[in-house]
Amino acid sequence: MTPPSHLAFVPFISVENMMRLVHSIGVETVLTELADAIEHDFTRWPLFDKTPRFGCHSETGVIELMPTSDGEFYGFKYVNGHPTNTKQGLQTVTAFGLLADVASGYPVLLSEMTVLTALRTAATSAMAARHLAPKGAKVMALIGNGAQSEFQAMAFKAVVGIEEVRLYDIDAAATAKCARNLAGSGLKVTACRSSQEAMEGATIVTTCTADKQFATILTDNMIGDGIHINAIGGDCPGKTELHKDILLRSQIFVEYPPQTRIEGEIQQMPADHPVTELWQVITGEAEGRTSPSQITLFDGVGFAIEDFSALKYVHERALKTGHFVQLDMIADPDDPRDLFGMLARAGEPD
Ligand SMILES: NC(=O)c1ccc[n+]([C@@H]2O[C@H](COP(=O)([O-])OP(=O)(O)OC[C@H]3O[C@@H](n4cnc5c(N)ncnc54)[C@H](O)[C@@H]3O)[C@@H](O)[C@H]2O)c1
Repeated sequence: MTPPSHLAFVPFISVENMMRLVHSIGVETVLTELADAIEHDFTRWPLFDKTPRFGCHSETGVIELMPTSDGEFYGFKYVNGHPTNTKQGLQTVTAFGLLADVASGYPVLLSEMTVLTALRTAATSAMAARHLAPKGAKVMALIGNGAQSEFQAMAFKAVVGIEEVRLYDIDAAATAKCARNLAGSGLKVTACRSSQEAMEGATIVTTCTADKQFATILTDNMIGDGIHINAIGGDCPGKTELHKDILLRSQIFVEYPPQTRIEGEIQQMPADHPVTELWQVITGEAEGRTSPSQITLFDGVGFAIEDFSALKYVHERALKTGHFVQLDMIADPDDPRDLFGMLARAGEPD
């Protein structure tokens, strides 16, 4: 069989290589650089093709495709969200994604994105908080201590300067796991027995719980003046974390309104409820936090541009460091129009 030419090969970042890549750079540096890369792409927001993601819903969860393009590159992510998976020993969220060259349509990268999604979600949250949280915030309540939680804690340490995280989960084993993983991180870690206790002294609260229902992780009485809420667990129709009364008192910031109105906390509100687009805060076209007493809410659902930025970031880093393998992914006939001939010759005896 004729060996394929270089045109057949697409760099692939496996889970093993993603972990090597992240360790070669350092987790906090990756989170900081990702936050900067995502912020940079948010300044180019009008350039991108945008659409709410395509969801395939079932009783147990959702499978989603998240495409976007800046005209030069095209990216998409396949991601699932299945809150009851952990009971079967499976993760709630898994993902992989692809980056392609728009001019030729050829893929330039295939990558695992389960680890990368956790990194990009945390980097996006921290980047949003850099613009919205009260100045000098040092203590964050972290409610929901599953797969995403440590990434959130580390991103808020690296990007926002958080010094203490106060953990709460309905499952004490999840809190113990999170505390164990954060020991030695430089963060003060306090395990709490209720969300109320976790909120004591916190000026930022992150909710990253998983439950396929309208849940009430935070009630109105728990949110005092000046708090920044980073709500990332409500990211699907019929799946929210905050009591509606909190939304009525908050200045709400979102990624892409047509998607967030379907999936975010604001699905509880009328379709014209005022929201501010985060990219406009970053470009200076809209105001972020306007007073120390204001309650700000980042209603984060995860948008395709964040995955695009993350794919571009790891593509560049992997090519530099060699943390990838080449996949024989594109059929490569000698004559581009002789695909059948290539297949037929492969069946001939050597
Ligand atoms: N916005 C985004 O961009 C984005 C990205 C990734 C994941 N997510 C969402 O974040 C959430 C967390 O993801 P994960 O991978 O960490 O899930 P996970 O299943 O690993 O962890 C979720 C944790 O929430 C806890 N929990 C459930 N109900 C709770 C309650 N009422 N109070 C306190 N804790 C509760 C569970 O015990 C579990 O430990 C999911 O809903 C997921 O869909 C959002």
